[in-house]
Amino acid sequence: MRIGVLTGGGDCPGLNAVIRAVTKSLLRQCGVEIIGIEDGFAGLMQGRWRRLDWQAVSGILFNGGTILGTSNRADPLASEADTAAALGHARSLGLDALVVIGGDGTMAIAHGMTQRGLRCVGVPKTIDNDIAACERSFGFDTAVATVTEALERVQTTGQSHSRVMIVETMGRYAGWIALEAGIAGAADVILLPEFDYDPERVLAVCREREQRQRYTVICIGEGAKPIGGELTIERRVDTRGGADPIRLGGVAHRLRDWLEPRLSSEVRATVLGHVQRGGSPTPFDRVLATQFGNHAAQLVQQGLFDHMVTLRDGRMGAVPIAEVAGQNRRITADEPLLATARQIGICLGH
Ligand code: F6P
Repeated sequence: MRIGVLTGGGDCPGLNAVIRAVTKSLLRQCGVEIIGIEDGFAGLMQGRWRRLDWQAVSGILFNGGTILGTSNRADPLASEADTAAALGHARSLGLDALVVIGGDGTMAIAHGMTQRGLRCVGVPKTIDNDIAACERSFGFDTAVATVTEALERVQTTGQSHSRVMIVETMGRYAGWIALEAGIAGAADVILLPEFDYDPERVLAVCREREQRQRYTVICIGEGAKPIGGELTIERRVDTRGGADPIRLGGVAHRLRDWLEPRLSSEVRATVLGHVQRGGSPTPFDRVLATQFGNHAAQLVQQGLFDHMVTLRDGRMGAVPIAEVAGQNRRITADEPLLATARQIGICLGH
């Protein structure tokens, strides 16, 4: 048997741990040959690959990024010629199945390719922690740790200068990173994409704190917007490859521009950006990613294709890709962490 593995979409801490676990698990349990496809589906369409043996995946657990490279544009479903190229290479490589590690878009491709004869198993990844039917995605814990550290650092400088410090996190349309890091990093205000915020409420907190503590820390998710306001879009990219063409970013600066003329304190904005995606995964993410990878290997052995690995009630499981494709898990009003935040006096902006 020959099993392929590829990483598609944006990178995320823990990808190498998944590649390592898939490879080691399949090598140990059924002695199959593992083929690493380079740069996601681009490599499958172009026939770029390398053999992954025990040696190739040793010593990569701690490393950020993906040893295979990734692409968030390549889409073998974009045209008949692209599909034929990808299927042709899979056939000439003799791939019996493909383990596809990626986000939403990549999972949709995996589903489409399975329907066209290349049997895929999906492993979801994202720092955003917004995968439907999956309570925790690897990479999220690392991103939360990075943002938490940034908030801690911003606290001391904000305190020294008596400033309002705004820290913008990633997460797209889901506020999990901002919420968890905001609580862990002692933010005074947490603003989330799921609930439009009232700028006057935020201003009131800053004014009150100007009188007492003299500094305020605000943690804002990149998809957050004021009541009646627009989403802040940093730029639009072209739609080739089916990836979301919208690049979010800039909400921290927008809020700063609104707050500063209304306060006596200075306001500073920090956009953390891709530092949240890079670097070594936390021990928690290494363990979770290893479980995800090992479980994908079990699904391959069971022949459960067109399914995606998932974590539910603390246990690894599988869900048909078609059931979760295109859906996101966002924060709802009954999320217990919201109540915790509110009850300890964190302003959620509404
Ligand atoms: O989905 C993961 C994510 O990091 C989002 O939080 C962020 O909005 C987006 O990807 C950034 O994408 P890119 O790396 O293409 O700019």
